Amino acid sequence: MRNEDGQTIRLEDYRPYDYLVHSVDLDFTLGDGETTVRSRLILERRPGEEGYADLVLDGDEIEMTSIAVDGAPLEAGLYELTPERLVIQAVPQEGRFTLEVVTRLEPEKNSKLMGLYRTKGVWCTQCEAEGFRRITFFPDRPDVLSRYRVRVEADRAAAPILLSNGNPGERGELPGGRHFAVWDDPHPKPSYLFALVAGDLDVLTDGFTTAGGRKVDLAIYTEKGLAGRAAYAMDALKRSMVWDEKRFGREYDLDIFNIVAVSDFNMGAMENKGLNVFNHKYVLLDPQTATDGDYAGVETVIAHEYFHNWTGNRITCRDWFQLCLKEGLTVYRDQEFSADERSRAVKRIASVASLRAHQFPEDQGPLQHPVRPTRYREINNFYTATVYDKGAELVRMIATILGEDGFRAGMDLYFERHDGEATTIEAFIACFEEVTGTDLTQFALWYSQAGTPTLTVRESFEAGTLTLTLSQHLDGGAAQTGTAPMHLPVRFALVGPDGAEIDAKAESAEARVADGIIHLTTAEATIVFTGLAQRPLLSILRDFSAPVTLVHEQSAEDRAALARRDPNDYARWAAVNGLVETMLVGAAREGFSEARDGETIDALVEAAGDENLEPALRALIATLPGEVEIARLVAKDVDPEAVHAARIAALTAIGRLGAGPLAALRESLATDADFSPDAASAGQRALRNAVLAPLSLAAGDPGAAAAQYAGATNMTDRLAGLSVLVHHFAGSAAAEDALADFYGRFETDDLVIDKWFAIQATAPAADTLERVAALQRHPAFRLANPNRARSLIGSFAAANPLAFHRADGRGQAFVAEQLVALDRLNPQTAARLATSFRTWRSLEPIRRENARAALAAMQDEKSLSKDLKDIVERTLQ
Ligand code: TRP
Ligand code: ZN
Repeated sequence: MRNEDGQTIRLEDYRPYDYLVHSVDLDFTLGDGETTVRSRLILERRPGEEGYADLVLDGDEIEMTSIAVDGAPLEAGLYELTPERLVIQAVPQEGRFTLEVVTRLEPEKNSKLMGLYRTKGVWCTQCEAEGFRRITFFPDRPDVLSRYRVRVEADRAAAPILLSNGNPGERGELPGGRHFAVWDDPHPKPSYLFALVAGDLDVLTDGFTTAGGRKVDLAIYTEKGLAGRAAYAMDALKRSMVWDEKRFGREYDLDIFNIVAVSDFNMGAMENKGLNVFNHKYVLLDPQTATDGDYAGVETVIAHEYFHNWTGNRITCRDWFQLCLKEGLTVYRDQEFSADERSRAVKRIASVASLRAHQFPEDQGPLQHPVRPTRYREINNFYTATVYDKGAELVRMIATILGEDGFRAGMDLYFERHDGEATTIEAFIACFEEVTGTDLTQFALWYSQAGTPTLTVRESFEAGTLTLTLSQHLDGGAAQTGTAPMHLPVRFALVGPDGAEIDAKAESAEARVADGIIHLTTAEATIVFTGLAQRPLLSILRDFSAPVTLVHEQSAEDRAALARRDPNDYARWAAVNGLVETMLVGAAREGFSEARDGETIDALVEAAGDENLEPALRALIATLPGEVEIARLVAKDVDPEAVHAARIAALTAIGRLGAGPLAALRESLATDADFSPDAASAGQRALRNAVLAPLSLAAGDPGAAAAQYAGATNMTDRLAGLSVLVHHFAGSAAAEDALADFYGRFETDDLVIDKWFAIQATAPAADTLERVAALQRHPAFRLANPNRARSLIGSFAAANPLAFHRADGRGQAFVAEQLVALDRLNPQTAARLATSFRTWRSLEPIRRENARAALAAMQDEKSLSKDLKDIVERTLQ
């Protein structure tokens, strides 16, 4: 691997840092246009190390104004300052010494939103992964744990609120209208968990008493006038705190827990110790401005960041290759929380659909990497669906293999043994091996081998005996990390004609079969079930028990029967989904045929109407996969226009063939004006809205959608109406009127205006590119705001293949230009949006060549950031 402006970092090169950093004292003087940071470190040569070592500190775009060791200013010849490092020679090798460094920053000019920056006048930090080095010189790596004490000083009027990590200490007034506050964090932490916030903010407060009796003050800070919208986030926080105590025995460990919501933020949120900082999208909600999906997202992200307090903060990562140690595990924990708070089956289906839509294309394309990578050029580019979501699947498989009690015992040991440490995946796995006596060596291949295995299932039935052959196969992809057979836990059931599960005796020479799970560890295994009165239906890969591509040549009749009768809710969705995928891929390749797919549509309409199933599940059944997902299934020579036509034809046929029952369903679910965000009410809205598109398309009439838009009493229903208008009746007066009305209603509300941009950018219409180009000049558009850039440019590139991959290449060229412009402001966000190009090789030849040209144009740009360059080069390779 080659890299001109930075080197490739390799896992095998890891070695501990040469020094211990016992304590960090930071003193921030915040002022308009200029901020000064005084840092005082107490250091010591790592005991037991031989030989002299220079003190090497990281730095990035910061100006140093003074430096002293043990109180004596350092002469120029005794240190070396490069753009990336401060190297100090002749530091004491025995005992402790102090290093004092003063740096000057300009947070107002920091558009990268890493380090210290200002958003709407508020000072705010983001340090993960390598942002702390943009504040002061420091060994900015996760295995250097220190005690932090922070003093913040600012103008009282500009910043009445002064926050940092840990517990609050002294506060006081200073001359000239200034004031200060001191914060002390008793828990040693790595620099990436440091945070500071200062500004004029509103607050919502509450309290929580832990199981152990600790009283914790809770506070959510927002921009002025918005604290009222943080009530649901506060509720979700308290529920998360209760859940982690009950499910994992984990209690909170400080007297105060603060959350701050800001409008300029690179990602969703950040788990800084005792001071989480959030994208305001994941905090602020009310029924008029937020959808049910937004409520679910807030609940998930609040829980995720809170759960990091144990999985991430108390136990952190030794190096950034171990990122999945905290992220995969914490995603698993937040998924389990949502499953317990809402519906387990619905949450699992949503997670699986999202894994397949986002992680599978990554795992099957040029950006492929193992869950634990072994090399990177830019760590920001490894906060991926593979590390987070496949990482969570691996933890879920450990739980499946060991069972609930074994998993909990392994987690208990992990918390006990590694508390206060920066550790590795090996150490994590060893905890589960030790408490259960299980050898997980083969299982651990999941962490090192990239790619999605294919699981092929064949079945035959004769004279009361069912024979299953399971085989696994892994292709060597872009990452070239090996293809050995892994341990796949395959959950299954045999289902009788009456829908009951059959308990048949299983025998296999190759695979262990126990508790409804086939443990496939060989390339192939045969399992024989005997004593069956008649041929059962095979319900396999229940709950998506391993993240694989399932190839199961099951007849449409068997699938339709499972769609009607499988007692497992996930399996019913999967059965309908299997039929639907076959229908859509066939339609994209050969055109839609009602004669061929009538049965599939019947099965879908029937399951959507089945009152034994919860509405949220039926809504998922009634919702077709999106065009990007259909394109992934088509896989080769994709023509986005054919994919679009196939999906519309299927939707229209569902609305026509299911007209009676679906219209009746919609009637029966009439929403009441009293909005409640609970999962059951949200499920009813989801189901009612899921059938609006098919019914409207079949009727060829935007009337129902327009009426729903105009009469809506909450954002979920309003946006559902608007999206049918804009996506299926593009350019109609009804669509244009609704868009204008929507803008007028919500003009002052950034989060809602993001929806307004996104809904237009995702309209599958011929002139969407021209519209997006015009919107990019709209006064409300600001490229430097990540949410806005994502809502217009990001959603156009990620969710509108028809327009992005327009045959004339202008959609891709437009995105490439915008990314280059964005790269100058915010490389991290530009690189993330550029990943939409990752499917380019699966396009038909003309569009493929256009995409290559757009990527090459980006690559040719002078002074591309390390972030964007890394993505573009890997995508092209
Ligand atoms: N650790 C954060 C999380 O998963 C995400 C994160 C990583 C992040 N890097 C970031 C957030 C940069 C904002 C900016 O919860
Ligand atoms: Zn996380």
